[in-house]
Amino acid sequence: MTTTPAVPVVLPALPALSDAAAYAQAVEEAKAAAAAYYEGGTSRLDDDAYDRLVRAIAAYETAHPDQVLSDSPSGKVAGGAVEGDVPHTVPMLSLDNVFSDEEFATWAASLERRIGREVASWNVQPKLDGLAIAARYEHGRLARLITRGDGTAGEDVSHAVGTIEGLPAELTEPVTLEVRGEVLMTTAQFEYANQLRTEHGGEPFANPRNAAAGTLRAKDRAYRVEMTFFGYGLLPLADTDEALAADLTEAAHGALMDRASGYGINTPASTQVAGVVVTSVEEVLARVAEIAAARAELPFGIDGIVVKADLAADQRTAGSGSRAPRWAVAFKLPAVEKITRLVGVEWNVGRTGIIAPRAVLEPVEIDGSTVTYATLHNPADITRRDLRLGDHVMVYKAGDIIPRIEAPVAHLRTGDEQEIAFPAECPQCGSGIDTSEQRWRCERGRNCHLVASVSYAAGRDQLDIEGLGQSRVVQLVESGLVTSLPDLFDRVTREQLLGLERMGETSTDNLMAALDAARRQPLSRVLCALGVRGTGRSMSRRIARHFATMDAIRAADAEAMQQVDGIGAEKAPVIVAELAELAEQIDRLAAAGLSMTEPGATPPAAATDADGQDTPEAGPLAGMKVVVTGAMTGPLAELSRNQMNELVERAGGTSSGSVSKNTSIVVAGEGAGSKRAKAESLGIRLVTPDEFAAMVADLLG
Ligand code: IVH
Repeated sequence: MTTTPAVPVVLPALPALSDAAAYAQAVEEAKAAAAAYYEGGTSRLDDDAYDRLVRAIAAYETAHPDQVLSDSPSGKVAGGAVEGDVPHTVPMLSLDNVFSDEEFATWAASLERRIGREVASWNVQPKLDGLAIAARYEHGRLARLITRGDGTAGEDVSHAVGTIEGLPAELTEPVTLEVRGEVLMTTAQFEYANQLRTEHGGEPFANPRNAAAGTLRAKDRAYRVEMTFFGYGLLPLADTDEALAADLTEAAHGALMDRASGYGINTPASTQVAGVVVTSVEEVLARVAEIAAARAELPFGIDGIVVKADLAADQRTAGSGSRAPRWAVAFKLPAVEKITRLVGVEWNVGRTGIIAPRAVLEPVEIDGSTVTYATLHNPADITRRDLRLGDHVMVYKAGDIIPRIEAPVAHLRTGDEQEIAFPAECPQCGSGIDTSEQRWRCERGRNCHLVASVSYAAGRDQLDIEGLGQSRVVQLVESGLVTSLPDLFDRVTREQLLGLERMGETSTDNLMAALDAARRQPLSRVLCALGVRGTGRSMSRRIARHFATMDAIRAADAEAMQQVDGIGAEKAPVIVAELAELAEQIDRLAAAGLSMTEPGATPPAAATDADGQDTPEAGPLAGMKVVVTGAMTGPLAELSRNQMNELVERAGGTSSGSVSKNTSIVVAGEGAGSKRAKAESLGIRLVTPDEFAAMVADLLG
């Protein structure tokens, strides 16, 4: 294996190459990446970065034709870095790329100009993301397997015969010919391969492509992993009988594919993205779109779609260049794999108490969206793959699937990477963790959520139930007295509380009094206590102020919900559905005497204009956007930030956490820092807590 020189990894944005030195460096870099790619090492650059690099090289060469280096990747068959010793009958070429419908249409038009007629029919197939291989059959028996190598000669990898599904040791007919196609690992094969490899003390492969490349070349493995073959070409060998040779040379591509299937060779026809033959560019583009849409669900990787002139006559007239045929092109799809850094690991507890690690990534653009998180399966998986914080990792995402980390890119380690800390207690409720299975689980299982949700409801910014801290909630849940939030108010009795450990008369009476006080909390806090998905403290207040009563909130459909400031088309139906799910709990809370109205708010029927929009709020802060910062003093000293925000809103204003040019006033208490400075720089009115207290004096009572 060629060793790759230590060249730095190219940054995502690649400026034009400025001079001959930059050009030479780029050529070196591309060669190193290509070597890693074709030899089964880990890619130094992801596909996008490699494509950008080669394009920059090609652009430089167009501008400086006299400086073109002989080993530039732009004019070469890809994979040229590997030397092989078995000559190919005809060169194994690469393909030119297009990246959009427009580029494809331009390419098709230029092909038709070149052949002087319309292309009779097009063959559209998935571009399998693996390695090209030539399989020679003699009298129907698989005799030799050869990698592409530099395109003119490749490496003999016949030792892999028998490990590649879809490439039978014997064909259904005793023909002599060469099959060309792609060897890859399906997702399932890849996962199994990595499991075996790590169990044998090896480093996991970063992705299925590298896994296939490494496995194909490996001769003496103690274990055996399967790969899959997809054929995309049949050609005669020297010993092929004449009639068959003529058939193979004259057949349209579609007919060759059918013939290959008939011999027992796997082709894309066995998949949901079978090759099709169509006659217009529009139909080609429609099929391209279909294959692209199916990509995420495919059990193997594709990196594009190959479009070929189907008829042998069209192919012959078009001919081939030294690097690629002129009658075929690869329509590249956006890369679904990128290298980024693992910056953190979060541990989330699911509804059943499963504690699942989630990777926090340096944001990276993949397949049209920014990826910040990826699943990490379970703790054992982290250990097995030896992931560390700060690692460069290969992240895979396609379509709507949850992004996942394939593997750390071990050769990019600096030594500064940190071990990933596993939680010692449940990150949600603080209980012990059952680590006996691969997937860790909170000892409280489903009750973990109950402890967390009841503790949340009792919190200072929700129902503010003094004396109902986490440990008390655990006690109530474990004793079976509380199985849902309403139980606190309509089921638990004084006698039952007295029966609990560490609950004397005084604590019991205090807790009963605190529960009573909670009954008088405004609707906004009851709503917040319910923990409706998509709402927090300020959203709960906005909803409560908008609708004024729980009945009005429950009567709202998604459209009505969208009238609330900050609720859009996406969030509204989620909130409506959540409230419907909580119906029984809400009924019980109402029956138990909790307040279901918001003081000072008016129901929508009375508070909206003809368009159904809220009419402006009345009150001393009507129409004002208010930011509170620093410590409150004087009459406001006791108020939490949440209570300050409630006050602002009761006074007709809108509370906000950040200062912008739209802010009306900033209440700056002691120790106010950057927000105060920003307000000053924007010329926004600053008031002290005392001045503010005077503005809202009527509401302070
Ligand atoms: S046809 C003359 N069809 O993509 C080359 N190639 O980037 C004709 N590939 O070298 C190749 N799927 O290794 C063809 N359905 C498909 C393909 C396919 C993957 C590979 C092949 C080729 C490379 C070019």
